[in-house]
Amino acid sequence: MAIRNIIESGDEILRKKSRPVEVVDDKIRQLLDDMVETMHQYNGVGLAAPQVGILKRIIVIDLYDDHGPIKLVNPEIIKQKGEQEVEEGCLSFPNQFAKMIRPAEVVVKALNEEGKAIKVTGKGLLAQALAHEIDHLDGILFVDKMIPGTLEVVKEEENKK
Ligand code: NI
Repeated sequence: MAIRNIIESGDEILRKKSRPVEVVDDKIRQLLDDMVETMHQYNGVGLAAPQVGILKRIIVIDLYDDHGPIKLVNPEIIKQKGEQEVEEGCLSFPNQFAKMIRPAEVVVKALNEEGKAIKVTGKGLLAQALAHEIDHLDGILFVDKMIPGTLEVVKEEENKK
């Protein structure tokens, strides 16, 4: 496994539309593992392939619960229900947070790392993370959806020496 570089806001690649994966092979599995490792390195709850410079429809999520990391290929929201007001950030926007409305519940169809068709139902934080990461695959960023005036920039602790 390897930690990949995370692309930060301002890079045009984050605005591009990602292409579907045709075959889930070892190369894709390697990418999924690298993305999980990279997400963990930066304490993120999710990461999408364009954030590591690869325009493929691949996301990973980890809520740091019993479930462990979720790896999804070609994820697509097929149902959504309700709304929740959330605060969120993004590994491509370090130290920035904003409020927005996300669906309270989503059903996502995808392929797993073996290439099998699966469905994932997410509520609360999982619904939020799925919606955020799937947006990345269409070049949509959390700042596009924020409630105006809610963007907060948190200064890094100065005592980290
Ligand atoms: Ni993000």
